[in-house]
Amino acid sequence: MNVKIPRGTQDILPEQVKLWQWIEAKVRHITKKYRYEEIRTPIFEHTEIFQRGVGDTTDIVQKEMYSFQDRGGRDLTLRPEGTASVVRSFVENKMFGHPNQPIKLYYMGPMFRYERPQSGRYRQFVQFGVEALGSADPAIDAEVIALALEIYQAVGLKNLNLVINSLGDIESRLKHREALINHFKPRIGEFCKDCQSRLEKNPLRILDCKVDREHELMKTAPSILDYLNEDSQEYFAKVRQYLDQLGVEYTVDPTLVRGLDYYNQTTFEIMSSAPGFGAITTLCGGGRYNGLVEEFGGPETPGIGFALSIERLIAAMEAEQVEVAFDDQLDFYIVALGDKAKDYSVKLLADLRNNGFSADRDYLDRKMKAQLKSANRLNAKYTIIIGEDELEKGEVQVKNMESGEQKEVKLAEFIDVVQQWSK
Ligand code: HAM
Repeated sequence: MNVKIPRGTQDILPEQVKLWQWIEAKVRHITKKYRYEEIRTPIFEHTEIFQRGVGDTTDIVQKEMYSFQDRGGRDLTLRPEGTASVVRSFVENKMFGHPNQPIKLYYMGPMFRYERPQSGRYRQFVQFGVEALGSADPAIDAEVIALALEIYQAVGLKNLNLVINSLGDIESRLKHREALINHFKPRIGEFCKDCQSRLEKNPLRILDCKVDREHELMKTAPSILDYLNEDSQEYFAKVRQYLDQLGVEYTVDPTLVRGLDYYNQTTFEIMSSAPGFGAITTLCGGGRYNGLVEEFGGPETPGIGFALSIERLIAAMEAEQVEVAFDDQLDFYIVALGDKAKDYSVKLLADLRNNGFSADRDYLDRKMKAQLKSANRLNAKYTIIIGEDELEKGEVQVKNMESGEQKEVKLAEFIDVVQQWSK
């Protein structure tokens, strides 16, 4: 039996889960401020959703999907990203007819990509993403970017670089596409097999090739920014104007093409510039995908969104040595000595919990010293010490673990007394 965890996955142990939950709480708080509502879609979808949504020529679809047939012969895929599923659900549930437009959604959950694992790259990772559907106002592009940045700032990150680009509308993209084909075609033989097949199908993908990154033609490739028509130029200028108004710093990088096919107009990534952060510096990526809803059979609906993985966000926090103070105190720990005291503690423990306190006790019949150690390790605010003598007198000793002060409390009044303390 293979008892090891699958490659590229990780157990998130209770100590780390505290950090995850702290981050998740920040994320939910921020999305609420911006009025994004949570959507939960299935972990697997029909494979076609990603082939059509993410694009046949992308690395994700060609190399990285966990695809399988179920017992009914259906072709299914563990979701490699969230946008295609959200758009599928948007169309299927006719959200375009909902009165609160634009529809602003967010999701947080596991995604799966068969990639070569390395620091910051997993085969199962958790993405938080937002999608705003139904508005082609450049102000919402700025809103989505600001939301992404706010999340990183809220968890204490400082070394962030926002990079933006415009891929233009369909007309601009077609002109740029032609220019790219003319640029690469004469020397396409010098490029990798993937690039050769990308040339006619999707030449923009060549710019994103990891194998031929250093080829001289890459540096002289026609820039999309020179092919933007007037509308696209105006749109991009507006996005930048709004970012400026928000005081958001950015660099424009015309080579930022993103690894998914559905993008047009605005694209962006946020990178970590923290010293010591791994080789993969991209924390987050997103952009506009006008036309994707139509691809899924819905009415013409513009959309924009982004996604980030919690794993990379945590890696950036580690690189920047962000300290987080968790509120993980236990209210009471019961130290019971002797059978009668132990029997009594069963009910006392339940009473404490029923009154809203967090409480635990010793279950290993340990000596007093070891039980007190547990109380300390579990960060208990108070330790209740019950011995046979105390029980006979109808009272318990309660020790304030911070001040060291110890008090006798009558059992009959116990809950009333401790409730007063917690006020
Ligand atoms: P993406 O660039 O493929 O875009 O992924 C977004 C983010 O997911 C990355 O920046 C990174 O933080 C994280 N990520 C991706 N692959 C891995 C991995 N193997 N291990 C750890 N983290 C990873 C999308 O997925 C688009 N759906 C984003 C989007 C939403 N665009 C518009 N709406």
